[in-house]
Amino acid sequence: MSDAAFPARLLYPQARITAIGSYVPERRLTNADLERIVDTSDRWIVERTGIKERRICAPDEFTSDLCIAAVQNMKDRFQPDLSDVDLVLVSTSTPDFAFPSTAALVQAHFAIPHAGTMDLSAACAGFVNGLLTAFGMVTAGFHRKIIVIGADALSKMTDYTDRSTCILFGDGAGAVLVERTDEPRPQPVVCVQGSDGDGGIHLYQTHTTGSMRGRPVTANGKIIQNGREVYKFAVQTIPRGVAAMLSAAGLAPADVDWFLPHSANLRIIESVCEKTGIPLNRTLHTIERYGNTSAATIPLAMDEGVRQGRFKAGDAMLLFGFGGGLVHTGMLMRWAGLGQ
Ligand code: ACO
Repeated sequence: MSDAAFPARLLYPQARITAIGSYVPERRLTNADLERIVDTSDRWIVERTGIKERRICAPDEFTSDLCIAAVQNMKDRFQPDLSDVDLVLVSTSTPDFAFPSTAALVQAHFAIPHAGTMDLSAACAGFVNGLLTAFGMVTAGFHRKIIVIGADALSKMTDYTDRSTCILFGDGAGAVLVERTDEPRPQPVVCVQGSDGDGGIHLYQTHTTGSMRGRPVTANGKIIQNGREVYKFAVQTIPRGVAAMLSAAGLAPADVDWFLPHSANLRIIESVCEKTGIPLNRTLHTIERYGNTSAATIPLAMDEGVRQGRFKAGDAMLLFGFGGGLVHTGMLMRWAGLGQ
C-alpha cells in the first residue's frame, strides 16, 4: 500500500556513476582523546553511537581542501577526463565561504574550463540530493558530465565543551562522476524526498540570528542539537521512506543488495534494519572509524564498497540521507559498474 506522506518517484535515468574517490583528514580524534576534553567515556560513546574515532581537519584545512583531495583521489584511480565536465556540484553545510561556492574553488583547482558550479545545502542528506540532481540534469539532457561531491568539516562548527554533540562529528569528503549513458532499457531510479521544517529547531547552526517560523533564533556558530528528537525523527522516517521506495520498485527488503544509510549513529542503523527487514550485513557505513561526517558519510561508504570489490553490475543499492531541516532523501538504484 502506498504511503501518502512518502511519495516515491521513478526516473528512467540516462546517467550512471563512472568514477569515485574519497578523502579523510590525517588527524584522528579517538574516544580516549574525548575523555580528556569532556566528561564522557569510551564505553558510553561506543554503546550509544558505535563511534570509536573520527578524522578532524588540520587548522589550515577546510571543506574545499577535502573536496579537492577526494577528486584528486578519483583522478588517480580512474583517470577520467575532467576537461569537459559541465557542472561541479558540492553538497556541504560547511562551505569555506558564503561565496564563492566551494564548487567554484574545486573548479579553479582543477582548471575545468567550461563547468558551472554550485553548492547545495541539505545537511546530511546533501550527497543523495546532489546525486539525484545530477541524474536528473543528465537525463534531461542539460549536461553530460557532472562531478558530485559530498563534503563537510563539521569539526569547524562543533562545540568541544558540549559532550552530547562533540562525540558525534568528524570530517571527510567523497566524490563521484556522473556521466550520460545511452542505455536503451535503463533500470528505474526511485526516490523519496521530504522535510519537516517544524523540526528545524532540533538541529541548527548560525553565526548570528536567524528566523524559524517567525521566531528569532540566535547561536554562536556552533551546532545546537536535540539528539533525542533527531534520533526519533530518523528511526520513524527512514523505515517509511525505505518501504515506499521498495514498494514503488516492486522489490522486497531481501532484494536490496546494499543499503547505505547516512552514518549518524549505529543504533539508528540497527533500528532501521530491524524495522525494514533489510539485513544488517547488507549495510555499508563508516560510523565506527569516521563518526558522522554529514554529507560525506554515504560516498565514503560507497567508496569503501568499491575498494573492497563488493559491488557487481545490477546490484540494487539503496541510499538514504537525513539530517538538519529536518530533511530526508532516499534513492534506490542499480549499480552500473564503474569506468567507461
Ligand atoms: N558521555 C556521557 N554521557 C552523556 C554524553 C556523553 N558524551 N552525552 C550525553 N550524555 C548524558 C546526558 O547528559 C544524559 O544524562 P542525564 O540522563 O543525566 O540527563 C544521558 O547521557 C542520556 O542522554 P540522551 O541525550 O538521552 O542520550 P541518547 O541515548 O539519546 O544519546 C545521542 C545521545 C548519541 C546524541 C543520540 O540522541 C543521537 O545519536 N541522536 C541522533 C543524532 C544525529 O543523528 N544527529 C545528526 C543528524 S545529521 C546532521 O544533519 C548533522
